[in-house]
Amino acid sequence: MARLRKAERPKLTRPQWNIYQHGWRPECRFRVAVCGRRFGKTFEAQEEMRRAVRMAVKHDIGTENEIWYGAPTFKQAKRVMWNRLKKAFPENWLAKKPNESECNLTMKSGHIVRIVGLDNYDNLRGSGLWFFLGDEWADTKPEAWRETIRPMLSTAGGHGLFIGTPKGFNHFRDAYLRGQPGPQHEDGWWSCLYTSLAGGNIPASEIEAARRDMDIRQFRQEYDASFETYAGRVIYAFSRADNVRPCPFIIGRPLLVGMDFNINPMSATVWQREDDGTLGQVDEIILPTSNTDEMADEITRRYRRGDQVSHITIYPDPAGAQRKTSAQGRTDISILRAKGFNVIASASHPLVRDRINVTNSMFCSADGHRSAFVDPKCAKSIEAYERQTYREGTGEPDKHSGYDHIVDATGYLMFSVKCPPQRARLTPTRFNLGR
Ligand SMILES: Nc1ncnc2c1ncn2[C@@H]1O[C@H](COP(=O)(O)OP(=O)(O)OP(=O)(O)O)[C@@H](O)[C@H]1O
Ligand SMILES: [Mg+2]
Repeated sequence: MARLRKAERPKLTRPQWNIYQHGWRPECRFRVAVCGRRFGKTFEAQEEMRRAVRMAVKHDIGTENEIWYGAPTFKQAKRVMWNRLKKAFPENWLAKKPNESECNLTMKSGHIVRIVGLDNYDNLRGSGLWFFLGDEWADTKPEAWRETIRPMLSTAGGHGLFIGTPKGFNHFRDAYLRGQPGPQHEDGWWSCLYTSLAGGNIPASEIEAARRDMDIRQFRQEYDASFETYAGRVIYAFSRADNVRPCPFIIGRPLLVGMDFNINPMSATVWQREDDGTLGQVDEIILPTSNTDEMADEITRRYRRGDQVSHITIYPDPAGAQRKTSAQGRTDISILRAKGFNVIASASHPLVRDRINVTNSMFCSADGHRSAFVDPKCAKSIEAYERQTYREGTGEPDKHSGYDHIVDATGYLMFSVKCPPQRARLTPTRFNLGR
């Protein structure tokens, strides 16, 4: 197939090239490019479409496998890409004139390059797919991928590229995490993140002007390509980038366990003090439909084996001092003590607000110091710290999300560590919460 003359080939910027050069490798079958506004995402898409045709010819892919550019709606896809797409292919690649009503191009090789809108994804079935490029991916319906596009890529082992600017914690973020090292990583996925500034298509002065005009979260989303939550986050000081780091369990070093007594699930977060005095979360224990006896046994199973006994202190929900008929009149705290654990619980329930303030100050204090870190294997905890929000219009953490139990478990521990029980009646702001 004829190549575009060198002078006609647009030059990709260095970050665009990085995204481009990872294409068509088996370990990067699905690429996710998270980029700020005006990065040059759509510009790059054009190049990707052309290469996909070359790859189809090279691999002798059957012509029933098409090459698609998709955007959230057909109208948008057409407006953004159709003219660019027609320019992306030299005339001598085309078998016939572009189909203007359906927005597709038939190559001399027989392969069809098509513009699609994902608002009507159900109508798109019917062919195989060799390459799918999803632009503005954060704005598409995730079902379009799961129910329609992904199965169509199966016949020929097709590849995909998803590009867009973040829109909160949605499927685009999930796709990004699949391509990153960490618990959500999946084989065959690769991802990257670039700010608008890195894209090099808007001057720094323009970006600074935008910063002055927008609220900080909006600016971070649009220009720094940052995934922001809009509902108020409870543990807002926690940052995946800054608070997640390896915190390996060290045998023999005391363990600190925060515990929530909710039955389904029973949740505990397990910490150790690191050499520099910071706290590191080494583990999480989440037991569906369980009870305090079982949780105690699980901690024993994991951390009191043979000679590897660690000194364990549990910092539970102070409500665990109440007797329960379900535990034959025993209290949760007495159960833990009977199993040989040291238990520290404040005599009175700390205010939820105080617990949250202390937890935030541990993850990042106002002067920017971080005193608590979480091991990447504690995936549910990381999700919970990131995702628990306040109930709309209230200052009450949302109790229906399922994230509250882990946040509570960690909060009991952090509060007791920072404000030991004899002083716990004072609000934390009355004494130094600093290091
Ligand atoms: N490699 C490049 N060489 C020359 N111009 C480029 C390049 N990349 C992008 N541009 C130009 O920069 C501008 C923004 O590009 P593009 O529309 O692709 O960005 P985008 O990230 O899709 O923007 P949006 O966030 O608005 O969707 C366009 O005018 C485009 O032609
Ligand atoms: Mg674009």
